[in-house]
Amino acid sequence: MTRHFLRDDDLSPAEQAEILDLARVLKRDRFAVKPLAGPQTVAVIFDKSSTRTRVSFAVGIADLGGSPLIITTASSQLGGKETASDTARVLERQVAAIVWRTYGQAGLEEMALGTTVPVVNALSDDFHPCQLLADLLTIREHRGDLAGQTLAFLGDGACNMAQSYLLAGATAGMHVRIASPAGYTPDAQVVQDAAAIAARTGGSVTLFTDPAEAVAGVDVVVTDTWVSMGKEEEKADRLATLGAYRVGSDLLALARPDAHFLHCLPADRGFEVTADVIDGPQSIIWDEAENRLHAQKALLVWLLRQNDAH
Ligand code: CP
Ligand code: NVA
Repeated sequence: MTRHFLRDDDLSPAEQAEILDLARVLKRDRFAVKPLAGPQTVAVIFDKSSTRTRVSFAVGIADLGGSPLIITTASSQLGGKETASDTARVLERQVAAIVWRTYGQAGLEEMALGTTVPVVNALSDDFHPCQLLADLLTIREHRGDLAGQTLAFLGDGACNMAQSYLLAGATAGMHVRIASPAGYTPDAQVVQDAAAIAARTGGSVTLFTDPAEAVAGVDVVVTDTWVSMGKEEEKADRLATLGAYRVGSDLLALARPDAHFLHCLPADRGFEVTADVIDGPQSIIWDEAENRLHAQKALLVWLLRQNDAH
């Protein structure tokens, strides 16, 4: 069975830790391993815009000795003229892995079904698991062991980042709090899945409506845009509803004095986060953005090793 990375809980706690350990090694010695030497090609497909994901996969694949093939969906046959499954059958004969940023999670599942090369979710409407590997690496660098740390995500609890925090945080044994208003709560099945993982890892999952209550005493405060890609038509409603969840210095002051702030970027400064917080001393967003490179390289190395072993 080919291993894929479509959602955060595709990795067991031990596998997640192994990839984070490998990311730390590759961060110290960027060109230590070349599993894609040849060079082999990795297809990186975008249905949505990207800066960080595009750059970090392109650079990371090159660091690993490979050649990135960046495909913009609008100029390919995927979507309009060809199914994800048919595209996968074509790509798997020529590339070592497929990385895809898309809308529905179902498309990724279709792409992965029966495919002989690893498929990686580079962001869907539901999850952003590559970002979470980078975020966990960043938290570990700044705060040490992940297990037992408490993290609060504020804002759109139904967005990909919040849902990935639930699954990946629970996998890491963290206490994950999501604070969001009615109508913006995470999917009930994702909450249930995360709670089941947390019950095994010693972590926990708690939903809040009051942002101040959620942030009280936490180690890490996180937010994300209130208007995720694909939700642009809801912008006015979202800005009106989510205002109380803006991370400003008043809210951040309720967390531990040494708490850190994370944001996957791009940020709408002045909306989900104020400039003094995102540019302030507790913000570790630039390390977080850099760690996309190291975390994704480790993920690719790990996936290629799993599939070589079969
Ligand atoms: N954080 C993130 O995925 O950024 P991009 O949309 O720029 O890739
Ligand atoms: N939730 C955001 C993340 C961007 C990296 C979005 O989906 O647009």
